[in-house]
Amino acid sequence: MVSEALKGRSLLTWLDYTEEEIRYLLDLSKQLKAEKKQGETNQRFLGKTIALLFEKRSTRTRCAFETAFGEEGGHPVFLSTQDIQMGAKESIEDTARILGRMFDAIQFRGFKQSTVETLAKYSGVPVYNGLTDDFHPTQALADILTLEENFGPSKGKKLCFVGDGRNNVARSLIVICAKLGIHFTVITPASLNPDAALLAKCAPLADASGAKITVTADTAGVKGADALYTDVWVSMGEEAKKEERRRLLSPYQVNQALMDKTGRKDSIFLHCLPAVKGEEVTADVIDGPQSRAWDEGENRKHTIKAIMAATLGVAAIS
Ligand code: CP
Ligand code: NVA
Repeated sequence: MVSEALKGRSLLTWLDYTEEEIRYLLDLSKQLKAEKKQGETNQRFLGKTIALLFEKRSTRTRCAFETAFGEEGGHPVFLSTQDIQMGAKESIEDTARILGRMFDAIQFRGFKQSTVETLAKYSGVPVYNGLTDDFHPTQALADILTLEENFGPSKGKKLCFVGDGRNNVARSLIVICAKLGIHFTVITPASLNPDAALLAKCAPLADASGAKITVTADTAGVKGADALYTDVWVSMGEEAKKEERRRLLSPYQVNQALMDKTGRKDSIFLHCLPAVKGEEVTADVIDGPQSRAWDEGENRKHTIKAIMAATLGVAAIS
Protein backbone atom coordinates (compact mmCIF):
# COMPACT_ATOMS: atom_id res chain seq x y z
CA MET A 1 0.00 0.00 0.00
CA VAL A 2 1.33 3.44 -0.89
CA SER A 3 0.48 4.98 2.49
CA GLU A 4 2.56 2.25 4.21
CA ALA A 5 5.46 2.72 1.77
CA LEU A 6 5.60 6.44 2.59
CA LYS A 7 5.88 6.02 6.37
CA GLY A 8 9.29 7.00 7.73
CA ARG A 9 10.57 8.25 4.36
CA SER A 10 12.70 11.35 3.77
CA LEU A 11 12.19 13.65 0.79
CA LEU A 12 15.59 14.64 -0.59
CA THR A 13 14.71 14.59 -4.31
CA TRP A 14 11.78 13.16 -6.29
CA LEU A 15 14.24 10.73 -7.89
CA ASP A 16 13.65 8.52 -4.83
CA TYR A 17 9.85 8.38 -5.31
CA THR A 18 7.66 6.40 -7.71
CA GLU A 19 5.00 7.95 -9.92
CA GLU A 20 2.34 6.29 -7.76
CA GLU A 21 3.81 7.76 -4.55
CA ILE A 22 3.97 11.28 -5.98
CA ARG A 23 0.40 10.87 -7.28
CA TYR A 24 -0.68 9.85 -3.78
CA LEU A 25 0.95 12.94 -2.23
CA LEU A 26 -0.80 15.19 -4.77
CA ASP A 27 -4.16 13.63 -3.97
CA LEU A 28 -3.54 13.87 -0.23
CA SER A 29 -2.59 17.57 -0.70
CA LYS A 30 -5.94 18.18 -2.40
CA GLN A 31 -7.77 16.48 0.47
CA LEU A 32 -5.91 18.47 3.14
CA LYS A 33 -6.46 21.73 1.25
CA ALA A 34 -10.19 21.03 0.91
CA GLU A 35 -10.60 20.26 4.62
CA LYS A 36 -8.73 23.47 5.51
CA LYS A 37 -10.99 25.49 3.19
CA GLN A 38 -14.04 23.92 4.86
CA GLY A 39 -12.78 25.06 8.26
CA GLU A 40 -12.14 21.51 9.48
CA THR A 41 -9.42 21.31 12.11
CA ASN A 42 -7.28 18.31 12.99
CA GLN A 43 -4.48 17.52 15.42
CA ARG A 44 -2.43 15.08 13.35
CA PHE A 45 0.93 16.33 14.64
CA LEU A 46 -0.10 16.53 18.32
CA GLY A 47 2.83 15.56 20.53
CA LYS A 48 5.29 15.75 17.63
CA THR A 49 8.22 18.09 17.01
CA ILE A 50 10.08 19.15 13.88
CA ALA A 51 13.46 20.92 13.62
CA LEU A 52 13.55 23.55 10.85
CA LEU A 53 17.19 24.15 9.85
CA PHE A 54 17.88 27.19 7.67
CA GLU A 55 21.24 28.21 6.17
CA LYS A 56 19.47 30.34 3.53
CA ARG A 57 16.62 32.80 3.93
CA SER A 58 12.97 31.89 3.34
CA THR A 59 9.45 33.25 3.53
CA ARG A 60 7.19 30.57 2.03
CA THR A 61 9.04 27.40 2.97
CA ARG A 62 9.56 28.35 6.59
CA CYS A 63 6.00 29.65 6.99
CA ALA A 64 4.52 26.60 5.24
CA PHE A 65 6.34 24.17 7.52
CA GLU A 66 5.67 26.18 10.68
CA THR A 67 2.00 26.85 10.10
CA ALA A 68 1.14 23.43 8.66
CA PHE A 69 2.82 21.62 11.54
CA GLY A 70 1.71 24.02 14.28
CA GLU A 71 -1.95 24.28 13.33
CA GLU A 72 -2.27 20.51 13.70
CA GLY A 73 -0.85 20.49 17.21
CA GLY A 74 2.86 19.95 16.42
CA HIS A 75 5.76 22.00 17.74
CA PRO A 76 8.16 23.40 15.12
CA VAL A 77 11.57 24.70 16.25
CA PHE A 78 13.34 27.16 13.91
CA LEU A 79 17.14 26.90 13.94
CA SER A 80 19.30 29.18 11.78
CA THR A 81 23.07 28.97 11.43
CA GLN A 82 23.21 31.69 14.10
CA ASP A 83 21.58 29.30 16.56
CA ILE A 84 23.24 25.93 16.17
CA GLN A 85 26.72 24.50 15.89
CA MET A 86 26.14 22.33 12.81
CA GLY A 87 28.93 22.65 10.28
CA ALA A 88 30.88 24.98 12.59
CA LYS A 89 31.85 23.47 15.94
CA GLU A 90 29.96 20.24 15.36
CA SER A 91 29.84 17.85 12.42
CA ILE A 92 26.64 17.39 10.43
CA GLU A 93 26.63 13.71 11.46
CA ASP A 94 26.72 14.50 15.19
CA THR A 95 24.05 17.19 14.87
CA ALA A 96 21.88 14.72 12.95
CA ARG A 97 22.29 12.05 15.64
CA ILE A 98 21.16 14.44 18.38
CA LEU A 99 18.30 16.03 16.44
CA GLY A 100 17.04 12.53 15.60
CA ARG A 101 16.84 11.75 19.32
CA MET A 102 14.79 14.87 20.09
CA PHE A 103 12.65 15.48 17.01
CA ASP A 104 10.22 13.43 14.95
CA ALA A 105 11.36 15.07 11.68
CA ILE A 106 13.86 17.58 10.28
CA GLN A 107 13.61 20.15 7.49
CA PHE A 108 16.82 21.50 5.96
CA ARG A 109 17.27 24.50 3.66
CA GLY A 110 20.81 25.35 2.65
CA PHE A 111 23.62 25.01 0.20
CA LYS A 112 24.80 21.46 -0.27
CA GLN A 113 22.62 18.48 -1.23
CA SER A 114 25.16 16.34 0.66
CA THR A 115 24.13 18.07 3.93
CA VAL A 116 20.50 17.04 3.63
CA GLU A 117 21.62 13.53 2.64
CA THR A 118 23.88 13.31 5.70
CA LEU A 119 21.08 14.51 7.98
CA ALA A 120 18.83 11.77 6.59
CA LYS A 121 21.52 9.13 6.94
CA TYR A 122 22.41 9.83 10.57
CA SER A 123 19.23 11.18 12.19
CA GLY A 124 16.96 8.16 11.76
CA VAL A 125 13.90 10.39 11.25
CA PRO A 126 12.28 11.74 8.06
CA VAL A 127 14.28 14.65 6.60
CA TYR A 128 12.73 17.08 4.12
CA ASN A 129 14.75 19.07 1.58
CA GLY A 130 13.43 22.64 1.82
CA LEU A 131 15.84 23.74 -0.97
CA THR A 132 19.49 23.09 -1.70
CA ASP A 133 21.70 24.29 -4.54
CA ASP A 134 20.63 21.16 -6.43
CA PHE A 135 16.93 20.59 -5.76
CA HIS A 136 13.72 22.15 -4.41
CA PRO A 137 11.37 19.16 -4.29
CA THR A 138 8.62 20.54 -2.01
CA GLN A 139 8.26 23.46 -4.44
CA ALA A 140 7.74 21.14 -7.42
CA LEU A 141 4.85 19.33 -5.71
CA ALA A 142 3.05 22.65 -5.13
CA ASP A 143 3.71 23.59 -8.77
CA ILE A 144 2.08 20.42 -10.09
CA LEU A 145 -0.85 20.79 -7.69
CA THR A 146 -1.41 24.30 -9.10
CA LEU A 147 -1.19 22.98 -12.66
CA GLU A 148 -3.81 20.32 -11.85
CA GLU A 149 -6.13 22.84 -10.16
CA ASN A 150 -6.26 24.67 -13.47
CA PHE A 151 -6.15 21.90 -16.05
CA GLY A 152 -7.05 18.61 -14.33
CA PRO A 153 -4.76 15.55 -14.38
CA SER A 154 -1.23 16.64 -15.24
CA LYS A 155 -0.21 13.68 -17.39
CA GLY A 156 0.26 14.87 -20.97
CA LYS A 157 0.10 18.58 -20.06
CA LYS A 158 2.85 20.95 -21.26
CA LEU A 159 4.87 23.00 -18.79
CA CYS A 160 7.64 25.38 -19.94
CA PHE A 161 10.36 26.71 -17.67
CA VAL A 162 11.94 29.89 -19.05
CA GLY A 163 15.12 31.16 -17.40
CA ASP A 164 18.09 29.69 -15.53
CA GLY A 165 17.83 26.08 -16.71
CA ARG A 166 20.45 24.76 -14.33
CA ASN A 167 18.95 25.95 -11.09
CA ASN A 168 17.35 23.94 -8.29
CA VAL A 169 13.76 24.74 -9.31
CA ALA A 170 14.25 23.76 -12.97
CA ARG A 171 16.06 20.58 -11.90
CA SER A 172 13.26 19.50 -9.57
CA LEU A 173 10.67 20.16 -12.28
CA ILE A 174 12.64 18.00 -14.73
CA VAL A 175 12.50 15.11 -12.27
CA ILE A 176 8.85 15.42 -11.24
CA CYS A 177 7.66 15.92 -14.84
CA ALA A 178 9.70 12.91 -16.00
CA LYS A 179 8.11 10.82 -13.25
CA LEU A 180 4.53 12.00 -13.85
CA GLY A 181 4.41 12.08 -17.66
CA ILE A 182 4.25 15.86 -17.99
CA HIS A 183 5.84 17.33 -21.15
CA PHE A 184 8.48 19.72 -19.86
CA THR A 185 10.42 22.22 -21.95
CA VAL A 186 13.37 24.13 -20.51
CA ILE A 187 13.98 27.33 -22.46
CA THR A 188 17.38 28.69 -21.56
CA PRO A 189 20.60 29.91 -23.19
CA ALA A 190 22.92 26.99 -23.97
CA SER A 191 25.42 28.04 -21.28
CA LEU A 192 22.68 27.55 -18.65
CA ASN A 193 21.46 24.18 -19.89
CA PRO A 194 20.48 21.71 -17.18
CA ASP A 195 23.20 19.32 -16.14
CA ALA A 196 23.59 16.49 -18.69
CA ALA A 197 23.92 13.83 -15.98
CA LEU A 198 20.50 14.71 -14.54
CA LEU A 199 18.91 14.71 -18.00
CA ALA A 200 20.44 11.29 -18.68
CA LYS A 201 19.09 9.98 -15.38
CA CYS A 202 15.60 11.29 -16.20
CA ALA A 203 15.48 10.02 -19.81
CA PRO A 204 14.39 6.45 -18.92
CA LEU A 205 11.90 7.83 -16.37
CA ALA A 206 10.37 10.02 -19.08
CA ASP A 207 10.24 7.05 -21.47
CA ALA A 208 8.37 5.05 -18.83
CA SER A 209 5.83 7.79 -18.00
CA GLY A 210 5.38 9.16 -21.52
CA ALA A 211 6.89 12.58 -20.68
CA LYS A 212 8.78 14.50 -23.33
CA ILE A 213 11.65 16.51 -21.82
CA THR A 214 13.01 19.18 -24.18
CA VAL A 215 15.84 21.69 -23.75
CA THR A 216 16.06 24.60 -26.19
CA ALA A 217 17.34 28.17 -26.42
CA ASP A 218 14.41 29.16 -28.64
CA THR A 219 11.45 30.92 -27.00
CA ALA A 220 9.24 29.57 -29.80
CA GLY A 221 9.26 26.44 -27.60
CA VAL A 222 6.47 27.96 -25.47
CA LYS A 223 3.92 27.21 -28.21
CA GLY A 224 0.92 25.31 -26.91
CA ALA A 225 2.08 25.44 -23.27
CA ASP A 226 -0.48 25.09 -20.50
CA ALA A 227 1.85 27.00 -18.19
CA LEU A 228 4.95 29.19 -18.41
CA TYR A 229 7.15 29.10 -15.34
CA THR A 230 10.09 31.25 -14.37
CA ASP A 231 12.36 31.79 -11.38
CA VAL A 232 14.87 34.45 -10.37
CA TRP A 233 17.90 34.90 -12.62
CA VAL A 234 20.22 34.86 -9.62
CA SER A 235 19.63 32.15 -7.04
CA MET A 236 20.68 32.44 -3.41
CA GLY A 237 24.43 32.04 -3.09
CA GLU A 238 25.12 33.13 -6.70
CA GLU A 239 24.95 36.89 -6.15
CA ALA A 240 28.38 37.39 -7.81
CA LYS A 241 26.87 36.24 -11.12
CA LYS A 242 24.24 39.00 -11.23
CA GLU A 243 25.58 40.97 -14.22
CA GLU A 244 26.37 37.88 -16.30
CA ARG A 245 22.88 36.47 -15.68
CA ARG A 246 21.19 39.73 -16.65
CA ARG A 247 23.09 39.71 -19.91
CA LEU A 248 22.31 36.06 -20.64
CA LEU A 249 18.70 36.00 -19.51
CA SER A 250 17.25 39.37 -20.60
CA PRO A 251 15.94 37.82 -23.86
CA TYR A 252 14.13 35.24 -21.73
CA GLN A 253 12.03 37.60 -19.63
CA VAL A 254 8.43 36.41 -19.26
CA ASN A 255 6.35 39.34 -20.48
CA GLN A 256 2.95 39.55 -22.16
CA ALA A 257 4.51 39.06 -25.61
CA LEU A 258 6.00 35.75 -24.47
CA MET A 259 2.75 34.68 -22.77
CA ASP A 260 0.95 35.39 -26.06
CA LYS A 261 3.46 33.20 -27.91
CA THR A 262 1.85 30.11 -26.36
CA GLY A 263 -1.00 30.78 -28.79
CA ARG A 264 -3.46 30.03 -25.99
CA LYS A 265 -5.58 32.49 -24.04
CA ASP A 266 -5.88 30.03 -21.13
CA SER A 267 -2.13 29.54 -20.52
CA ILE A 268 -1.21 30.31 -16.94
CA PHE A 269 1.91 31.85 -15.41
CA LEU A 270 3.75 30.20 -12.52
CA HIS A 271 6.64 31.44 -10.35
CA CYS A 272 8.03 29.81 -7.21
CA LEU A 273 8.59 33.29 -5.68
CA PRO A 274 10.22 35.48 -4.49
CA ALA A 275 10.05 37.37 -7.81
CA VAL A 276 12.20 40.25 -9.02
CA LYS A 277 9.58 42.11 -11.03
CA GLY A 278 11.06 43.74 -14.12
CA GLU A 279 13.76 41.06 -14.42
CA GLU A 280 12.57 37.49 -15.01
CA VAL A 281 8.90 38.57 -15.18
CA THR A 282 7.10 41.82 -15.81
CA ALA A 283 4.70 43.17 -13.19
CA ASP A 284 1.75 43.06 -15.61
CA VAL A 285 2.17 39.29 -16.07
CA ILE A 286 2.77 38.23 -12.46
CA ASP A 287 0.06 40.58 -11.17
CA GLY A 288 -2.22 39.93 -14.14
CA PRO A 289 -5.13 37.57 -14.90
CA GLN A 290 -3.01 34.67 -16.17
CA SER A 291 -0.87 34.50 -13.03
CA ARG A 292 -1.42 31.67 -10.55
CA ALA A 293 1.74 32.47 -8.58
CA TRP A 294 -0.22 33.36 -5.43
CA ASP A 295 -2.24 30.11 -5.44
CA GLU A 296 1.06 28.32 -6.03
CA GLY A 297 2.59 30.04 -2.99
CA GLU A 298 -0.38 29.02 -0.84
CA ASN A 299 -0.12 25.48 -2.17
CA ARG A 300 3.33 25.18 -0.60
CA LYS A 301 1.53 24.84 2.73
CA HIS A 302 -0.98 22.17 1.70
CA THR A 303 1.63 20.07 -0.12
CA ILE A 304 4.18 20.34 2.70
CA LYS A 305 1.48 19.31 5.18
CA ALA A 306 0.70 16.28 3.01
CA ILE A 307 4.40 15.29 2.78
CA MET A 308 4.85 15.55 6.56
CA ALA A 309 1.57 13.78 7.36
CA ALA A 310 2.21 10.89 4.95
CA THR A 311 5.83 10.31 5.99
CA LEU A 312 4.99 10.59 9.70
CA GLY A 313 2.17 8.12 9.13
CA VAL A 314 -0.60 10.35 10.50
CA ALA A 315 -2.81 10.82 7.43
CA ALA A 316 -4.16 8.74 4.61
CA ILE A 317 -6.44 9.48 1.70
CA SER A 318 -10.05 8.94 2.70
N1 CP B 1 9.51 29.44 -3.13
C1 CP B 1 10.21 29.45 -1.99
O1 CP B 1 10.89 28.49 -1.62
O2 CP B 1 10.08 30.60 -1.28
P1 CP B 1 10.94 31.00 0.01
O3 CP B 1 12.36 31.17 -0.48
O4 CP B 1 10.32 32.26 0.49
O5 CP B 1 10.85 29.89 1.00
N1 NVA C 1 16.28 29.34 -7.42
C1 NVA C 1 15.89 30.13 -6.28
C2 NVA C 1 14.65 29.59 -5.67
C3 NVA C 1 14.11 30.35 -4.50
C4 NVA C 1 12.88 29.75 -3.93
C5 NVA C 1 17.03 30.16 -5.28
O1 NVA C 1 17.64 29.12 -5.05
O2 NVA C 1 17.31 31.23 -4.73
